Formats: sequence, structure tokens, C-alpha cells
Amino acid sequence: MPEKPSREDAWALLTEFTDNPSLLKHGLGVEAAMRAYARRFGEDEESWGVIGLVHDFDYQQNPTIDAHLHVGTRILAERGWPADWVRVIASHADYMGVPRDTPAARTLFAVDELVGFLTAAALVRPDRSIAAVEVSSVKKKLKDKAFARGVNRDDVRRGAEELGVELGEHVAFVRDAMATIADRLELPPRDS
Ligand SMILES: [Fe+2]
Ligand SMILES: [Fe+2]
Repeated sequence: MPEKPSREDAWALLTEFTDNPSLLKHGLGVEAAMRAYARRFGEDEESWGVIGLVHDFDYQQNPTIDAHLHVGTRILAERGWPADWVRVIASHADYMGVPRDTPAARTLFAVDELVGFLTAAALVRPDRSIAAVEVSSVKKKLKDKAFARGVNRDDVRRGAEELGVELGEHVAFVRDAMATIADRLELPPRDS
């Protein structure tokens, strides 16, 4: 492994462990959001994108809190991934006890659950369009406990707070990032 894994390395790793289409799309959605925030903050887009793409690579095989990331971070270390990237990846789950003390860590946490929530919000639209998901509708759905109940609302709110971006602005920003890869997420307007 060269010093810095490339996007190709990241995709190879993700697909070695994951074939669930929803999880692959989750990685792509988080990657797009990480890239967009890296550009906004003047950070390194490539590394942020790679971190986003692989952050859940071990989840399909290790979905419990006893295993997810415990296994993944060990594999990343064994394969020579940069320790600071592995730390950012570990920090997206509170139970790993790794502080989110870098912009990349705060951003990964802030976008992770929101990408899932926005995907759910697009999928209930007749046109499945991610670009057309409205901030007001997302805020309403965040209060509706029955909607996308797997998404932790607290994490979405806390993530935006830790990042220092107002929730509505954060929702719009992540939505627009996801919309740039709408085809790969299979959330394009139906009549496109
Ligand atoms: Fe995760
Ligand atoms: Fe995730």
C-alpha cells in the first residue's frame, strides 16, 4: 500500500467486503458529501472522499457495535492505511471512544446519518429525486419518529452542531452534494 490509498484502493476495499447495493450507495453518498465539505473548508478533497467511501466497509459482515469498526480498523491498520485516516473512520461511532477532534472527523459524523435520511426522503417521493428534497420537508420528517426510524435524529442534530453548520444549511448542502451523483445513487428524477 502506498502512503496514501487512492480512490481505486478505497473502492476495491469496499467491494471486497460489501456487495449490498444500499451499503455501496451509502459509501458513495458519504463520499460525495465529504468531498463537497472538503472543498468548502479548503481541505484535501481526495483523502476526505476516500475516508467517506470506506468508512463502513466492514459493516455488512460486522453489523453489531461489538464488531463494526473494531474489525474494520484492525483490517485498515494491517493493510497499512494511514493511522490518522483510520482514527477519523473510527470516530464516526461514539462507542469507539475516539474524539472527533479534526474537521474530517466532525464532517464524517455530521454527514453519515444524514445521507441515509436524505436517501429515505428521496425514496418516498414519486419522482425519487434527491435534488427535489426540500429542507422544510426533511425537518418535518426528522420530527416524525415513524419515518426512517433507523436514523438517529440526535446524531443528525449533534453532527451539524459539532460541525458548526446550521441544520437547514447542512441538509441543503449534503442534499446538493448527493444530487451531483444522483445517477449512481439511483435517485434521479423518474422522467430524466
Ligand atoms: Fe458506521
Ligand atoms: Fe455510515
